[in-house]
Amino acid sequence: MFDKEIYKARREALKKSMSGGIAVFPGNSEAPENYLSNQYRFRQDSSFLYFFGIDEPDFAAVIDFDSGEEIIFGNDVSIDDIIWMGPQPSVTSKAEKVGISDSRPFKELFKVVGEAVAKGRMVHFLPPYRYYNMLLLSELLGIPCTKNGNDTRKMLAERSSKELTKAVIALRLIKEPCEIEEIDKACDIGYEMHYAAMKAARLGMKEQELVGLMEGITVSKGWGPSFAIILSQNGETLHNHMHHQYLTEGRLFVIDAGAESNTHYASDFTRTLPASGKFTQKQKEIYTIVSDANNLAVEMARPGITYREVHLATARLMLEGLSSVGIVKGDLDEMVEKGVMGLFQPHGLGHNMGLDVHDMEDLGEDLVGYDEDQVRSKQLGLGSLRMARRLKPGHVITDEPGIYFIPALIENWKAAGTNAEFINFDILKKEYYDFGGIRIEDDLLITADGCRVLGSRRLPHTVAEVEKEMAR
Ligand code: GLY
Ligand code: MN
Repeated sequence: MFDKEIYKARREALKKSMSGGIAVFPGNSEAPENYLSNQYRFRQDSSFLYFFGIDEPDFAAVIDFDSGEEIIFGNDVSIDDIIWMGPQPSVTSKAEKVGISDSRPFKELFKVVGEAVAKGRMVHFLPPYRYYNMLLLSELLGIPCTKNGNDTRKMLAERSSKELTKAVIALRLIKEPCEIEEIDKACDIGYEMHYAAMKAARLGMKEQELVGLMEGITVSKGWGPSFAIILSQNGETLHNHMHHQYLTEGRLFVIDAGAESNTHYASDFTRTLPASGKFTQKQKEIYTIVSDANNLAVEMARPGITYREVHLATARLMLEGLSSVGIVKGDLDEMVEKGVMGLFQPHGLGHNMGLDVHDMEDLGEDLVGYDEDQVRSKQLGLGSLRMARRLKPGHVITDEPGIYFIPALIENWKAAGTNAEFINFDILKKEYYDFGGIRIEDDLLITADGCRVLGSRRLPHTVAEVEKEMAR
């Protein structure tokens, strides 16, 4: 938890950007895993953490933008709770730690919100993503749930406050020095996770063993993984959570993993490694193209440029590389415009990162990642770009270009004749269907005149660096 002045300043900044009404912020509750009292590890809602800091279940908060009042709602523990959990600080003292002097039992939330509704005041809320909070908002605001939970989510997202959502995004997008310090810590844990896996990898080892090693590091140094670890020799499957294969001579494996610091700030790194510790010639060629694209983004990312422009520049560079090995042919600018790179990188260059590894994705990908004058592309690849904005100092973003050979997608384009004039389908089928995929990801902080690769050390990056570390 940060000093109370940090939370107070964030709430004051929010008040300044809102026109009136009240906002209700439900924190998260425990979520049962396989029976009621066996719960997933508790994770607080990130916007609640950002403004109210309390990292515990069953809290909510209200800010009144007209009177300036701030109220924390939560229940003090009973003697039964103390038997299982030990003594707990009071709700009042928890609220005081984040600079709020008005705390009330949870049921009072219904009274406060009910009065605002009865007076016809605007009640702002953010789009909910947990069903428990959807039920709570539905009851608080008299919005009926539908039989299909997903429809309820969509309906509440439509009824949520765009004014509040935009104001929260504007604040959370620009990271404060205390947040950058936490992200650097998360990056240092991420470094240790990846470095340990790089050192431990041996032919014949099950992928799962490396996942366990990495996950252990995250919980011994921080809160835990910032998302379920992706580690697979089938790196062409972008989010591969199957870890049942054994490391095999001649194959590559992708590790995409990060950590949360104890205060829940995230890191997110990807490295692609040769199972044997040595790249083949063909692997080196494709790896170098991706590594050059990752470095180009580091060179280009600075205030004033859009990340969409950086995405397109890296796409052009990778197409140039793919052209040099005979996979694509033709005019580079035309290939960029027609979206040829989507066949090989069906995702965007990066996303915002902060309290969430895909920061604020629940608030709406376009609202978070696009400026008002930007329209999201429908092309495969560019259409998945989650951060396209004009960069500003304080943005924290990922830089994660990749090249993947996905046989089903290649066959799909071939059958449809998509961009057929640019693509050498014969070489792809003959030489690349069993290649897998390569992604290389670092985390960047936009500074006053450029960017900084986050964390105190950068993970081994070049072919030579990776081979050297794996050989030791
Ligand atoms: N690191 C996983 C992702 O960015 O989707
Ligand atoms: Mn990422």
